[in-house]
Amino acid sequence: MQLLDGKSCAAEIRSELREIVRLRKLENKKVPHLTAIIVGQNGGSISYVNAKVAACEEIGFESTLISFDESISEEDLLKKILELNSNIDIDGFIVQLPLPSHINELKITQAIDPKKDVDGFHPQNLGNMMLNIPSFLPATPAGIIELLSRNNIQTEGKNCVVIGRSNIVGMPLSIMLARNSNPGNCTVTLAHSKTKNLTEICRNADILIAAIGKPEFVTKEMVKEGAVVIDVGTTRVEDPSRERGWRLCGDVKFDEVAEKCSFITPVPGGIGPMTIASLMMNTLKALELQGK
Ligand code: GUN
Repeated sequence: MQLLDGKSCAAEIRSELREIVRLRKLENKKVPHLTAIIVGQNGGSISYVNAKVAACEEIGFESTLISFDESISEEDLLKKILELNSNIDIDGFIVQLPLPSHINELKITQAIDPKKDVDGFHPQNLGNMMLNIPSFLPATPAGIIELLSRNNIQTEGKNCVVIGRSNIVGMPLSIMLARNSNPGNCTVTLAHSKTKNLTEICRNADILIAAIGKPEFVTKEMVKEGAVVIDVGTTRVEDPSRERGWRLCGDVKFDEVAEKCSFITPVPGGIGPMTIASLMMNTLKALELQGK
């Protein structure tokens, strides 16, 4: 079994980006500027957004963090988005999800200028992705693809099972892996809460991706000998042995599954850092596409 080390892969990407920023500065070119909007006090969202800002600082990107109280109206949030769309200093921005229930997430993602939509959540970017037209790819699926690619894991002709059909991970990832591309060309099964015979379906997977947010859902019975297992789960579970009282738990029962795998991602240190690295790559791409 080999560990798919997202932490070191992401560090490698960040150092490549740092070098690109250094060269841009030497040529007196603009450095990428990412803005993140966060609404409310969700602990997981705050950690993620802080990590995104820290990554910008490390690489030499500019960053702005905009925090709103959970009570902000949809109208005021939309107003801020329109402001960011027309602010030429900001190359890309994201609105961290989930949003409070009184705000329509689709309305928000549709309001973002697709050229600045570095999360790749706008319908135009998702549509382009489906047609294999260059676009911003959602950060977590793109990070998974990048991790497979940089570890020379072949995907062509492989049976791939994705568990979970979220708009952010499972649904776009299933399309990206099925596309005629490299990585890609998988035979993909997208499993979800209504799927029958899930264990049997998973046992057929050469590449198994768990993205349902249910701690330790994938057990050894569900995994084929020699499979590649990607764990996207990051649920906070109580852990009195930690000072902060919790730890991050993946969707895979790591200890028993790992021994059957050819490759497996850890949690933490797997897909989380790759998501952030992808967002950084998208932000640089936004700046370049805008011809700045
Ligand atoms: N919530 C969970 N993952 C993500 C992400 O990649 N982007 C945003 N904006 N929100 C998220």
